[in-house]
Amino acid sequence: MFFSKITGVGHFVPDNVVTNHDLEKIMDTTDAWIQERTGIQERRFYRPHEKGSTAKMAYQASLIAMQRAGVTADDIDAIVFATLSSDYYFPGSGVLLQDMLNMGTKPAIDVRAQCSGFIYALSIADQFIRTGMYKRILVVGSETQNIALDLTTRGRAMGVLFGDGGGAAVLEQHSQAGRGILSTHLHSEGKHADILCIREPGTGNETIVYEGMHEQHDKINPFMDGQFVFKNAVKRMPEAVMEALAHNNLQLSDLDMLLPHQANLRISQMVQRLLNLPDEKIYNNIQKYGNTTAATLPILMSELWEQGRIKEGQLYALTAFGSGFTWASALIRW
Ligand code: ACO
Repeated sequence: MFFSKITGVGHFVPDNVVTNHDLEKIMDTTDAWIQERTGIQERRFYRPHEKGSTAKMAYQASLIAMQRAGVTADDIDAIVFATLSSDYYFPGSGVLLQDMLNMGTKPAIDVRAQCSGFIYALSIADQFIRTGMYKRILVVGSETQNIALDLTTRGRAMGVLFGDGGGAAVLEQHSQAGRGILSTHLHSEGKHADILCIREPGTGNETIVYEGMHEQHDKINPFMDGQFVFKNAVKRMPEAVMEALAHNNLQLSDLDMLLPHQANLRISQMVQRLLNLPDEKIYNNIQKYGNTTAATLPILMSELWEQGRIKEGQLYALTAFGSGFTWASALIRW
């Protein structure tokens, strides 16, 4: 029997810090509104001249993850790359990372599950390793959000929520039952696809990107029914955690740490309350980075790693909810 475990995690965020006060200067918003509703204090955005990208952040994060795992790109058998903000409309960013890492002709798979993308990617990589097809996979979540956001008053409802960042994990084969990725549970509910989306450009529509596109507010810019998303997120994330624990015959009291997707601090706090978890059993960093979509979970893990708070034998639950709707959980005995 084969199992998989994470042997290294890394993250990269641009060094340009954009505070809520910076946003006050370019749109009609306030630090108080943003903090009260979302907990976000600042986020990272690439500066335009830096020519940053989703694949470039993934590359930096991957180098750190591989170094921490004690492997090089030559040791990696495949990439599974989650993003909603790929460098090109097509191909996905996976192949760009594969090229940057000089990985010959090894496969790169792109995953489009938005905020749940990293857990979906982890699950896909876990299945490849369990079947014995691959031994070592780079699992990535990376997002460049700033260029898609309308950072004017017109786009403020979405513009203040997101940030740029990337994270990566090295997933490796091992044979010790009860350690590593214990399970992953994935869900989707496509009837809510229009609740949180960018509708165009898309092949189901007539437009392509054009100059002045932000003036076509309803079509081009990200759209979200925030309150409907909130209600569903606080229902589905605890549900997915409980599903994972039940599947493994474990209780909430067995959990050492919950890592929730960083959509909104209020969502994390509600999930914490519903699961009755003490503060020391949940980790949030949305205050510093905003919502980095598929990157939030590997960034959380990488920060915990740096703080020496990832401990052998401890039980970690990852959960996410996002556009699609999609939601998911992963249970990890480190
Ligand atoms: N600054 C100031 N005022 C704003 C801003 C802003 N950035 N954005 C909206 N407003 C105004 C609105 O125009 C509205 O004004 P009005 O009452 O005069 O019409 C007022 O604030 C209230 O707007 P709502 O959209 O009703 O605000 P709400 O209280 O619902 O908060 C929020 C919005 C924070 C998005 C909330 O719905 C929420 O927490 N949703 C959860 C979803 C989420 O966080 N998604 C993140 C990404 S998705 C994911 O990762 C799952």
